[in-house]
Amino acid sequence: MRFRLSRASSFVSLAVLLGQSFAVAVDPTALDACTGYDAKNVKNSGARLTADLFLRGAGCNVFGTDISHLSLKVVYETTSRIHLKITDASHARYEVPESVFPRPPSVKTSPQAAAIRFNYTASPFSFTIFRAKTSEILFSTASHPIIFEPQYLRVKTSLPANANIYGLGEHTDPFRLDTHNTTRTFWSRDAFGIPSGTNLYGNHPIYFEHRTTGTHGVFFLNSNGMDIKLTDDGPGGTALEYNTIGGVLDFYFLAGSETDPTEVARQYAELVGLPAEVPYWSFGFHQCRFGYQNFIDVADVITNYSAVGIPLETMWTDIDYMFKRLIFTVDPDYFPLARMREIVAHLHKNNQKFVLMTDPAVGYLPGGNYGPYDRGTALDIFLKSPNGSQSLGLVWPGVTVYPDWFHPKVDQYWTNEFKLFYNPTNGIDIDGAWIDMNEPASFCNLPCTDPFEQAKQQALPPPRSAPPPDPNTPIFQTTRSLTKRDDVLNPPYAINNAAGALSSKTAFTDAKHANGLIEYDTHNLYGTMMSTATRNAMIARRPGLRPLIITRSTFAGAGKHVGKWLGDNMSLWEHYRFSIAGMLGMASIYQVPMVGSDICGFAGNTTQNLCARWAMLGAFYPFMRNHNADTSISQEFYRWPVVTDAAKAVIDIRYRLLDYFYTASHQAHIDGTPVLHPLWYKYPKDTATFPIDLQFFFGDAILVSPVTEEDATSVSIYLPRDTFYDFHTLTRVEGQGARVTLSNIGFTQIPLHIRGGTVLPLRVKSAMTTAALRKEDFELVVAPGTGGKAAGRLYIDDGVSITPPAATAVTFSYAAGALDVRGSFGFRAGVRVARVRFLDVARAPRAVLLNGRAVSSADVAYDRQSKVLSVKVNVPLTSGFKVTFS
Ligand code: NOJ
Repeated sequence: MRFRLSRASSFVSLAVLLGQSFAVAVDPTALDACTGYDAKNVKNSGARLTADLFLRGAGCNVFGTDISHLSLKVVYETTSRIHLKITDASHARYEVPESVFPRPPSVKTSPQAAAIRFNYTASPFSFTIFRAKTSEILFSTASHPIIFEPQYLRVKTSLPANANIYGLGEHTDPFRLDTHNTTRTFWSRDAFGIPSGTNLYGNHPIYFEHRTTGTHGVFFLNSNGMDIKLTDDGPGGTALEYNTIGGVLDFYFLAGSETDPTEVARQYAELVGLPAEVPYWSFGFHQCRFGYQNFIDVADVITNYSAVGIPLETMWTDIDYMFKRLIFTVDPDYFPLARMREIVAHLHKNNQKFVLMTDPAVGYLPGGNYGPYDRGTALDIFLKSPNGSQSLGLVWPGVTVYPDWFHPKVDQYWTNEFKLFYNPTNGIDIDGAWIDMNEPASFCNLPCTDPFEQAKQQALPPPRSAPPPDPNTPIFQTTRSLTKRDDVLNPPYAINNAAGALSSKTAFTDAKHANGLIEYDTHNLYGTMMSTATRNAMIARRPGLRPLIITRSTFAGAGKHVGKWLGDNMSLWEHYRFSIAGMLGMASIYQVPMVGSDICGFAGNTTQNLCARWAMLGAFYPFMRNHNADTSISQEFYRWPVVTDAAKAVIDIRYRLLDYFYTASHQAHIDGTPVLHPLWYKYPKDTATFPIDLQFFFGDAILVSPVTEEDATSVSIYLPRDTFYDFHTLTRVEGQGARVTLSNIGFTQIPLHIRGGTVLPLRVKSAMTTAALRKEDFELVVAPGTGGKAAGRLYIDDGVSITPPAATAVTFSYAAGALDVRGSFGFRAGVRVARVRFLDVARAPRAVLLNGRAVSSADVAYDRQSKVLSVKVNVPLTSGFKVTFS
């Protein structure tokens, strides 16, 4: 070990002497032999501890020279959160800016009051975080010295063998990470095909660790490129190791809870921000594709959906609409403005919505009379090369520049461009924004010596393949050297970036922001910063209204501005299955609840059966959108009869459940309670649930268990030891804590169970739009749990306002034949609770009372076989009421 280490360090020294820098491969376990630091001058006031950390001996010097003097600060910020930060004591270093990631308020508390505590050893310095009640160690750097070099920082903790670790995304690995040999790389990347084991679009350096004794979380606030590794080389069995190439060591430890795993999700939301509330309509079904050829194609899709009777809430259009793929333009021949406006007007007349794609990269067209470029240049808001010229990339329109989201005038620029182009009076009146390619992506795959040359070779943008349609067709019926190499282009520790060099296929890491920061440090923030700017632009266009914004690249905290889709998946069964883990990561851990995958798959050609199954699974994504690639076959749901039927059946269910889910989504916005739950969130002691990522709870009460294998009509599902009800038949199913095989599941069916203990508010009927749905009455389904009780909630507001003027918030509680509905009824929904269905009622009741008065026997029905008691109540949703039976 020592031999390898000293070889590595002399290797680096030689490289430094020669004035070169290059990646050095070092066995990370060898670094455990480094000497580390000694803690001195420890000052401890209870809520706050500070110390100096002095390097012991010559240090490690593995990827540079160890920084000899560090400062440590530990603060008990709340009773459930410890903040620990280690910085260079003598020089300021890059830290994630407050403007991008506002730090949470710290109320400061005493260690005695805290659920987790910090402990340390002074020499060599190491620390542990442990659970106060049980003394269980949650994080320990003992035997793993901290390494702090200019461009390499390492912290390593020991974990129990086979620890249950979730998070560290965005990734396509299993929801519960393999602890034996996993490297999670954090570096936003245009990850076409979303290959497993690679860095993808977003970066969320948070993990939750679940034990039968509790669940806690660890967040590493660092936006630099990094590898987080899970290996078997910890003394306890597993080791988790952070290797980052910049920034500081900034950790937040979240106590979570010993009993309720969702508590840590709420604590994480407190830290990164509560997710944005999205409009009610955004839970409707969305249709999109890359490759609609012209405005007639777009109009035809809208017409076809309506003709077959599949509810289409929102039509989307990809970059095809642009003129030469330049943002904020329309192609005058293929997508003439007047015809696009006609499409939007048609949609709006029918209470449907429209969304367009906006990329960040702006065509580099000096002197080309291209307003978005000229106005950006005049405001000087584009990212700069080290020599001060505009930093260039290569994206859809060819050579491009990138907005610098740190520039003080960039919000003004972006908002103005949105106002000009997405203008209801004479532009395109979008209802939501789709932002893509914001890693930021570039097609320059280094070495890309001349983007202009490469653009020519790739013929960007590709010519249109067909002549433009008749515009009257009726419808409805470089300036820098690209070879320069220095530390920020090619740092000594090479993270495992699947795109190769750090600047490959993205903006250059030596590009400069207006505030002096460089892309090297802030790359992973780009998509989130574009998200904030886009949210501001959308709100400026439509003050007071919640925008729907769907982004591709995210950083921790992005959920408070935007939703996200999971990028360029493929039309593969594997990616259909994976979408569950991907979505659970975003919705149940990273606090980005408005999430979905491209239904039926983006790249490659889907099949009828895959698309039918995916339509059904996709109806339980928070964000339900069918989207595919320009070279793939068409896959709108109406293309195959069986897919049409599947989509109709499942959208019917989704829409009837929409207010139940909207209520969950509102709760997520209020306190961070997740909108989707892995099984272990609900059954934290049941170890069989820990690896499950092919089933999940939609809201916290609907267990979704899709068929998972290609062309199969059966599925083996796990039912925890609990009471469930088949959603379709409403009959009771007793879970045995075992797998059961469900068979004969047709291609228009999806297994769903209601978790016992739930009162479910459902719309009695679905509708073709969510606006129409909001006029349908409710019914309540009372599904008692093992103890005979049930509870639920319903939240309704106008569905669009950021600050709704009025709201209705109702709670339902049921026990021993009595259902109590109470709450506040400020929002006049104009609908009724038409009926209540009580499940698992042993016998026909002798009497049924509504608010103490007998209900006529004509309004009561009991089904002996299903054991469902149905009571027509017809109460306006303006006050509470009580239904009892005996
Ligand atoms: C990449 C996105 O991931 C994909 O969804 C989109 O269709 C293409 N860009 C074209 O805009």
